[in-house]
Amino acid sequence: MTTAIAAACVALMLAAFTFDGGRSGNKSLSLKDAFDGKFLMGVAMNRSQIYRRDEADYWLIIDQFNSVTPENDMKWMHIHPEKEQYNFEHADKLVEFGEANHMFIVGHALVWHNQLAPWVFKTDDGATVDSTELMQRIRDHIRTIVGRYKGRVHGWDVVNEALAEDGSLRQSQFLAIAGPRFIEKAFEFAHEADPDAGLYYNDFNLVTAAKRDGAIRLIRDLKNKGIKVDGVGMQAHWGLTRPSLQEIETAIEMFSALGVNVMFTELDISVLPSPRQVQTADVSNRLRNTPAMDPYVDGLPDSVQHQLAARYASIFRLFKKHADKISRVTFWGLHDGVSWKNNFPVRGRTDYALLFDRDRKPKEAYHAVIEASKE
Ligand code: XIL
Repeated sequence: MTTAIAAACVALMLAAFTFDGGRSGNKSLSLKDAFDGKFLMGVAMNRSQIYRRDEADYWLIIDQFNSVTPENDMKWMHIHPEKEQYNFEHADKLVEFGEANHMFIVGHALVWHNQLAPWVFKTDDGATVDSTELMQRIRDHIRTIVGRYKGRVHGWDVVNEALAEDGSLRQSQFLAIAGPRFIEKAFEFAHEADPDAGLYYNDFNLVTAAKRDGAIRLIRDLKNKGIKVDGVGMQAHWGLTRPSLQEIETAIEMFSALGVNVMFTELDISVLPSPRQVQTADVSNRLRNTPAMDPYVDGLPDSVQHQLAARYASIFRLFKKHADKISRVTFWGLHDGVSWKNNFPVRGRTDYALLFDRDRKPKEAYHAVIEASKE
């Protein structure tokens, strides 16, 4: 456990007595209580939730979770849209919410090739920046943001999705301009700005062998150079049958053996047909909707509901078995109505990826996860 996590746990223990668990109408054990002492239970908050535009969402988050991540509002395009302009308004609100509710607050994501601001790679006259200038920009970005929330945001996704599917470094403009050292520099800048914050490498498909091994090489190299890396975030945008429990378990064991905390940072389970052979979470890659791709517009059949519940239960049984290695599990969204899976990888579908339905009611999968915690 990092100091940040330990501090947050103490805060959570104190806070537990002030929570009114009955407000959401859900009297059963909450997710955070069910896995208390094992790992944190987190949720990604969208902007409406950050601004308390929906009371049901607001109380459900407080009742069920002890960690929050902003779904979008700390991404470069939102928080640093122009070179000289930072927009902290929404991120500040999220941090205030997390603090008021004694939650473990995660910052997402400092360096990522998506949802980036267009100015980052361009000089004033439209040319491509050189390596020195890009490193300077990354440094200013990280120092300013991590510095602002020093001691308040407990952990950061420092670098997001820097790997390709074969485990080599992704051919991003960060890599093309600054070379591979942009990764270690990003971790160094974040560490300088807040020495106590947890620092994570975050990516999707980290349970498939080639990419997993690439991430292991990356993290091992960083650690060998004396760079502080505290955790690996596996996004976990999964399906009903893939990845296999065996793949997930192997990844947990292998990452943990590196001496880093393992986190599942963006968990959701899509019940919809996947348009591709290879599952991806690459947000630049969206496809067209067709009726065959969107079979449950009028509701989820019981058989699929059961399948989703069984899948979630088996995953949480596995997480529980490896609770000594896992520090946090975060759902990528609160309920099915706000899940990004309704629009990815195909726009405008009706997915059922989370534990609460569109009316904020706990689904069969929710009860199955709670039961799994008791076994
Ligand atoms: C997603 C958000 O959920 C969407 O609202 C947004 O339109 C696109 O990004 N990997 C990540 C997350 O690290 O930040 C992405 O979030 C999902 C994939």
